This record gives sequence, C-alpha cells and structure tokens, in this order.
Amino acid sequence: MRSIWLDTDAGFDDWMTMLMLASHPGLRWLGVGVVAGNASLPVALANTLRICHHYRLKVPVFAGCDRPLSAPLETAERVLGAQGMRTTGMPLPEIQVAAEGLDAVTALGNALRNSPEPVTVLAIGPLTNIARTLQAEPALVDRIHELVLMGGSTERGNHTPAAEFNIYVDPEAADVVFNQAGLKRRMFGLNVCRQVLLERAHVQEVQSWPGERAMCLAGYLDAYQRIRHPDGRVPMPLYDPVTSAWLLRPELFTFQSARVDIELQGRFTRGMTVCDWRIGQSALPNTEIAMTADGPRVVDAVLQAVRQTF
Ligand code: RIB
Ligand code: CA
Repeated sequence: MRSIWLDTDAGFDDWMTMLMLASHPGLRWLGVGVVAGNASLPVALANTLRICHHYRLKVPVFAGCDRPLSAPLETAERVLGAQGMRTTGMPLPEIQVAAEGLDAVTALGNALRNSPEPVTVLAIGPLTNIARTLQAEPALVDRIHELVLMGGSTERGNHTPAAEFNIYVDPEAADVVFNQAGLKRRMFGLNVCRQVLLERAHVQEVQSWPGERAMCLAGYLDAYQRIRHPDGRVPMPLYDPVTSAWLLRPELFTFQSARVDIELQGRFTRGMTVCDWRIGQSALPNTEIAMTADGPRVVDAVLQAVRQTF
C-alpha cells in the first residue's frame, strides 16, 4: 500500500484525479488539502466538498492557503469561469458540508508525522500549501516518499508563453519546493500532458455510461474538452489525471533527470520551469521529469479508473 496526500485547486481535471485515487486498490488516501488556484479558495473548497459528497469519497478535506506566498492571487477564471469549472449539463449538487476544522498545512504536517510510512504527496495545483508545510517544519521532508506534481513544462507554457499555470500562480512557493534539500520530486509538465489528449470520442464514451453521477461528470467533461474549440474539434490535454495515471500504470511513462529552477524575475518568463539537462557536467539533478507518455493508453487508463467509481 502507498500512503498518499492530495493537494488540489479543484477544477475539473482535479476531479478526475480524485476519482482515480478513490478507485486505486493500492492507495491509503490520508487527506485532501485545498489551495487557491483554478478558483478562489472558497470556490475550490466548495468544489472539492461537493465532489467528495456526490461521489462518496471518504477522505477528510482541509482548507489551505487562500493566496500565494507573496504574489497577488491570479485564478484561471478567465478560462474556466468563476466556479473554476463549467458544465454543458447538470451542475454538481449544492451541499451544506464543511471542511475539517484544521487548516491544510497543519493537517498535512500531522499526516506526515503520524504516517507509519513516508507519504507520497500529490500536488495538482499551485504549490503554496506544500511550501508552507516545508517552511513550517523542514524536517518533515524525511516523511515524504516523493512529491509528485502536475506543473511546469520543458517547453512553452499555457497561462503565459513561458509559464504553466500551477507554477505561475505561486512561483515563490515552487522555488521553495524545488530547492528543498532531501525532497524527491517527480514533475509532470505540459510537455508530457500534451501527449495525453481528450477527444470527442472519449466524451461520447462517458456520455454513454449509465447513472446520474456519470451523467453529471459527462457534462463537465464535455465542457472541458471544448475549452480549445467550441465544437471540441481540437483535442484537449488531460493535465492532473496524468499523475494518477502514472500511479496506476507507471510503465506508460518515461522520465529524465534534470535540474529545474524557477524563474522569479523575468518580465516575460516569471513562473517558467527552467530545465538544465547538463547532468554530470554543470548541473546536479533535482527532479525526475516525465518526458513521454503512451497517450491513448493513458487516456484509456484514466477512463477505466474513473468508471470504476460509479
Ligand atoms: O496547467 C494545468 C493546471 O492548471 C491543472 O492543475 C489545472 O487543474 C489547473 O490547475
Ligand atoms: Ca489542478
């Protein structure tokens, strides 16, 4: 069994990742920390609680940081709307459920301290909560088996020409995380996510699944797949679920060691993950970077895992 902690900014691809974790037979899911990113913290938290309630995910949810370490919060609402995700069908039911009383940074620290084995931390939003946890108690790094993150890119960005969204929202937090001594990092950037493409046919497959929960998911999946073009003719990369697909099917991916630094000052490059491949010459590696994915088989693995939760 692998103990795991999820940190999320609960948009739609985060939702698919959560369903995959719930259906993974080999995971002990300790908790969920929520961070501002796709949407404001209250909205991301409400999304997370609604997903957990509607899909019966038995995992404690903790509210984390509502803004980056130092930058003003910039959400993805210009792309995703104020709710952090859209649907072409029925919305996730509203519920009156509160998060746990503890904040996510304290809760993650407790989980790391109390786990009988080192914990895999899965970060699929800005790294603010993770950085705050490491700043509060650096020794906890010994209790982290590895940090698996969706973020960054070995090539162009998505939120800016140079920066991927999760890193762009809080580059100072990413800088803390990528410079934390003793931490094993595994990065799934845009370069590999762009090999994992959601097509109209995948949406139609999910739309054919029976039941109200599948229908609710299908509406959000439909809207997600149409982000790049209103009729869905342009495939949309799967971002966050690529991390949970690796947990299930690691053989579908290859990795390369590199030194990753976070650009903090660049007028056009702030939030860029600067990858140095000159290992053994001038760069000491600090990250395993996912370089290739068997895209069609990864998408199939994601859909099969999600389907098991209904
Ligand atoms: O750049 C993709 C990332 O930004 C994903 O985690 C998505 O959920 C958004 O947070
Ligand atoms: Ca996310």
